[in-house]
Formats: sequence, C-alpha cells, structure tokens
Amino acid sequence: MAIWQIRQAGFKMFTTRFRHADGFGDGPTESGGRPTLQGNGTFLRVNGLDSQSCVACHDVVSTDAVPVITGVGGSAGIGNSAMFMTRAIDVADFSGNGFAAFDGRLINPLALFGAGGVQLVAKEMTQRLQELKQRALAKPGIPVRLRVKGVDFGRIVADAQGNVDTAEVEGVDADLVVRPFGRKGEFATVRQFDVGALMFHLGMQPVELVGEGVDADGDGVANEVTVGELSALEVFVTTQERPVQRPMDRAARAGARRFRHLGCAGCHTPGMATRSRYLSYSYPEVDTDPSRNVFLRVDLSQLPSGFQTTTGGGIRVPMFSDLKRHDMGPELAEDFFAATPQQNREFITAKLWGVADSAPYLHDGRALTLNEAILLHGGEAQAARDTYMALSVAGRNELIAFLSTLRNPRSPNADVLD
Ligand code: HEC
Ligand code: HEC
Repeated sequence: MAIWQIRQAGFKMFTTRFRHADGFGDGPTESGGRPTLQGNGTFLRVNGLDSQSCVACHDVVSTDAVPVITGVGGSAGIGNSAMFMTRAIDVADFSGNGFAAFDGRLINPLALFGAGGVQLVAKEMTQRLQELKQRALAKPGIPVRLRVKGVDFGRIVADAQGNVDTAEVEGVDADLVVRPFGRKGEFATVRQFDVGALMFHLGMQPVELVGEGVDADGDGVANEVTVGELSALEVFVTTQERPVQRPMDRAARAGARRFRHLGCAGCHTPGMATRSRYLSYSYPEVDTDPSRNVFLRVDLSQLPSGFQTTTGGGIRVPMFSDLKRHDMGPELAEDFFAATPQQNREFITAKLWGVADSAPYLHDGRALTLNEAILLHGGEAQAARDTYMALSVAGRNELIAFLSTLRNPRSPNADVLD
C-alpha cells in the first residue's frame, strides 16, 4: 500500500463523525459504560463523550484571522477544551473562596502538525537514555549524567545489585522513557495517545486494548477500532506537514536574540536534530525499546512531512521544546493529583512552532494572547518571565514579532483532501 493510501484511511478515521452503529459512545453503566447526561445515551461532556470526531477539536489552522481559518489537524478554542475526570465544579462558589473550584483537568486542544518529527526525536532520546542506564548498571556506584540531545534530565546511579537510583532524575519518568505527547508528557507515541482519545472522547474502543470480539463498553458493538485502523490513524497524524517559520524582519530577528538571552530557549529548545530521518512504526509497541516490532518506515524528509535534512542524514525538528517537564509554579497548577500534588504544577514545555496560529495558550487556554502566556510563566520559568517584564515595550514587541513568525502550515493535508 502506498503511503498516501494509508494516510487517506487514517484521514477518514480522523474526520468521520462516528455513529452508534460504529460503536460511538458507551452502553449503559451496568454493562461497563459511562453515565450520560440525563441518560441521553450519547453525551457526558465533563468526562469525555464530548464530541463525535477527532476533527471536531483539531480543526483550527490559524487564529490569526477573523473568522479563524479551519482545516484538519489543527487546534481549537476554549469551547472544545476537554474536561478530564470531573466530579465537581463549584459553579455558584458555595465555598466562598472567590472562584469556581474544579477537581478535574481542563485541557485545551493543541495542533498536531509535525507530530512525526516530535515522535522521532522522543524515540531517539529514549534510546539514548536506555543506553545511559545500561552504562550506569555496568559501573555500579558511578553516577551517570542523563544528557541527551543537549537536554539535561538529571542523573542516575546504580548499585551492585542492579538497582538504579532515580531520585535525581528530572523532567522525565523514572523508566527513562521520553513521553512527548499530552500537556503533562504522558504518552510516548501518537498511537498510545490515540487509544486514549478514541475511548475518552468518542467511546470508540480499540481492539488492541479491549481484545478481539470484546464489547467492553457494553454498547452492543465489538471490534470498534481494529489494529489496522489505529495504525492508519497514527500514520496519518504523524505524517502531517510540519509548522513553518516565515521570513523574519529586523524586529523579529532582534526578538529571536532576546528569546535566547531571556532564557526562553533554555526550555523552548529551538531545534533538535535526529540521527535518522525515518520514523518507524511498531506494533505492539515496546516503550523502552522502540526499535522492536516495526511494520512500517516513513521518510519524514519527504512530503507531506517535509522536514529539512541535516548533513548527518537526519532531520531538523524546529519544535521549540526540550520535551522535558517543568514546574511552572502555583498560579498555573491544576487541582487534580491529590496523592502527588507536585504533578499539578508540572507541564511538558509547550512546542512553540505554529504558536502564532494557535491562540488561546497554556494548558487550559487561559492566556488569550502571547503576552499573557508569557506573563503567566512561574516556577522554573519565573526568572525568564521577570526579565521579559523588565524589557521596554519595544523590546517585548520584538519578542512577540519573533513568535509571530512561527506559523502552522498553510493548507495542511491537501494530499488527502482532494
Ligand atoms: C473534545 C476535544 C478533543 C477531541 C474530540 C479530540 N482531541 Fe486530541 N486533544 C485534545 C486535547 C484537549 C489535547 C491535549 C490533551 C492533553 O494534554 O492530555 C489533545 C491532544 C491530542 C494529541 C497529542 C498532541 C501533543 O502534541 O501532545 C493527539 C495525538 C491527539 N489529540 C489526537 C486526537 C485524535 C486521534 C482524536 C480522535 C480520536 C482526538 N485527538 C480527538 C482535544 C480533543
Ligand atoms: C522553565 C521552562 C520554561 C521557560 C524558561 C520558558 N517557558 Fe514558555 N512554557 C513552558 C511550559 C512548561 C509551557 C506550558 C505551560 C502550560 O501548558 O500551562 C510554556 C508555554 C509557553 C507558551 C504558550 C504556548 C502554547 O501553545 O500554549 C508561550 C508563548 C511561551 N511558553 C513562551 C515563552 C517565552 C517567550 C519564554 C521566555 C520569556 C518562555 N516561554 C520561557 C516552559 C518554559
């Protein structure tokens, strides 16, 4: 099968408005489904069952226009934010604390362009981290620094019994798998994310999770998403065009320098190079050894992805993220992880490519402009934020001018739209 045929099948998965006969939604609660609002049988909204298709929440290519420019694979506004695991919202402020307490997670959709490059960078980082872990195991008692593609993930030390002390690991899970997807950095691959997205938003259950012939959500439909359909969906999402950088004028070039000097680039790493330009897809996936069970390889320097190649034969992925989690301070913290409160403050560095086209900003979309997004940085980013604040208005505008050159592709997925 040619790649565009796989992409087309995945595009259909992404854009189809599923119906009950396809397995959309869950069955009654007593047979394994989620409750629905007033028992309507179809929607819940505050814990998924919140739309009929992927594209419903990934359809804005540019917010730099009125009305916004729509297209497949983009982000979405506040109205499409996911409300994850909500049990209570204090709408009337009964507790009198001055705000509507909320115990779920409010998460604004983000654009999916260039996702293949992100996945490839993360995969190579994981491979290197696993090598460093082997090095530590081979030399018990000697600390090994986890520096990968210029990003410092702390250090580990092994003992003679083969235990690895991960207490000083930073910004990545203790299993040393880089998980670039999800605003908290929880998913290693788009495939893993998609399994969750299908179930959470649409009540569509992948066979690879619930089993062949099993109707886990009790809606009378089994085999709602086959392994092949999920592979096509992953290939579609990860072979989309990458975001682009428009030509910079003088102000934008000055802003790019400020981006480095202010320390923004310390987390928003402008570009990362890969060793390979091929993204390989595996099934079943093995996080700690992503090179196993490969069924397809795609050259990400070819169209539609169109990444620039490096002299070393890899690609350059200008995503402006270190793929590391950071403490963003109490202001941005969520109120969800009761057992591990620190997790509430941590987010993976947002990718800034395409940022000029993807307002609103931050995990819950609370920042309506780029300026607001920067002002709301705290925690590890407090110093960079304060230095930005101390700039003259002209200086701040230069930085914004630079960010405004980071754009989404103009007409993404044209190859399958025809
Ligand atoms: C109700 C809106 C909504 C729908 C429907 C939806 N998404 Fe999303 N999508 C989101 C939100 C919100 C996020 C950020 C989630 C997070 O951080 O955990 C996201 C993130 C993603 C990501 C991770 C991107 C990244 O860089 O971190 C992928 C991949 C994705 N969605 C694919 C899909 C697919 C495939 C479907 C259809 C099965 C889908 N989405 C349906 C709202 C939605
Ligand atoms: C300590 C690491 C760190 C530093 C330093 C940092 N950021 Fe961020 N930035 C993040 C993280 C993490 C997020 C995501 C926060 C969230 O989702 O709530 C983010 C989000 C953003 C966003 C919103 C993007 C979006 O799509 O929602 C913008 C814009 C941004 N940063 C710009 C900057 C600029 C400009 C600077 C320098 C003044 C800077 N950042 C410094 C970590 C950092």
